[in-house]
Amino acid sequence: MTVAAIVPAAGRGARFGGSENKIWSEIGGRPLIAWTLSALDTHPGIDSLVVVGAEEELDRLRQAAATLEKPARVVSGGATRAESVLRGLESLDAEAQTVLVHDAARPAVPPDLIDRVLAGVRRHGAAIPGTPCTDTAKLCDSQGRVEATLDRSRISLVQTPQGCLRDLLERAYRLAGAAANEATDEASLLELAGIAVHVVPGDITNTKVTLPADLAAARRVLLGEAIAEVRTGLGYDVHRLVTGRELWLGGVRIEYDQGLEGHSDADVVVHAVCDALLGAAGLGDIGLLFPPGDPAHRNRRSTEFLAEVGPMLGAAGWRVTNIDAAVLAEAPRLAPHRTAMAQAMAEALELEPERISIKATTSEGLGPVGRREGIGCWAVATLQRAGGQ
Ligand code: CTP
Ligand code: MG
Repeated sequence: MTVAAIVPAAGRGARFGGSENKIWSEIGGRPLIAWTLSALDTHPGIDSLVVVGAEEELDRLRQAAATLEKPARVVSGGATRAESVLRGLESLDAEAQTVLVHDAARPAVPPDLIDRVLAGVRRHGAAIPGTPCTDTAKLCDSQGRVEATLDRSRISLVQTPQGCLRDLLERAYRLAGAAANEATDEASLLELAGIAVHVVPGDITNTKVTLPADLAAARRVLLGEAIAEVRTGLGYDVHRLVTGRELWLGGVRIEYDQGLEGHSDADVVVHAVCDALLGAAGLGDIGLLFPPGDPAHRNRRSTEFLAEVGPMLGAAGWRVTNIDAAVLAEAPRLAPHRTAMAQAMAEALELEPERISIKATTSEGLGPVGRREGIGCWAVATLQRAGGQ
């Protein structure tokens, strides 16, 4: 029995959100899809892989597939999952008699689950993994009104890989025609064609990453992040406003008739953020790492400091959960620059900009900031890393 695994990866991850397809989300320093592919690549029951990707991601997927031991090809997908799987099916070599279709979005599939599906295919021709429904299950109408209570003992929540003899799936696609596009799994196509499908025990750890919270669940399974360590750091900085200097805040040049005095660009926002990050990780502070007396740092862009702090955190196993900064400035008005500041700092840290928040406030004329003698910034940062490090 020659087994080919088809991995549909051509979705958009709309429910997950974010700036790119969820399959590129990072888990322990590797993209989610790399975990999925390696689970299939290292399983002795699988002979080859076909990854079905979105047109614009094919190059990246080819690079990921090139690291695998087994023959792996990458083909372009379609508008629906069913169409993507069909493209994979059509690309198979003649000798692949059994297919396992496995969601790219399930990176933590356990090897014994794959064994059970393959055994089920050998025995029955088509098998899928399912877990029992432990909640009471209701059938509802589109307004959310309950129509009936289902017999949960007969309900199975099904996962992938879904396995079957190749010719059965090909037949099911032929019979379904365009209706195949409605199917969210292979078993429903087989059912339509009257082909018997058997359920074998699935595994709740075989998480499908659909919503952002599912990524944390997958991380817990794959990295043992059951007890993640979470730490918070605080940073503060203030510099004097003087004439004849450019004003840099949060990595952004801001038009103003004064700038902040200092050795580097005197960007108090970036300095406070650096200190919050370093403080949370217990790695000292900005003055220690980039001493103001050191001529090497003279007139440096502070975002360069930030770009050095990021990898230091990574090396110690820390991931930045979020940063929140409050800038104290009587003038200029900073609200229009908040997004650009978050972007600039996110870029330096290689972080999603949504994880950085910037607020600005005046001091109502009180104190040195209120008298426009300087600008200050408070920042907090939250970091997390896998437990046991
Ligand atoms: N998939 C695919 N081609 C499509 C749609 C989905 O190959 N046209 C893949 C996805 O990449 C994913 C798997 O099918 O690995 C399961 O689908 P789902 O979890 O729904 O992923 P997405 O469709 O990407 O997510 P969403 O529905 O939230 O957009
Ligand atoms: Mg989808």
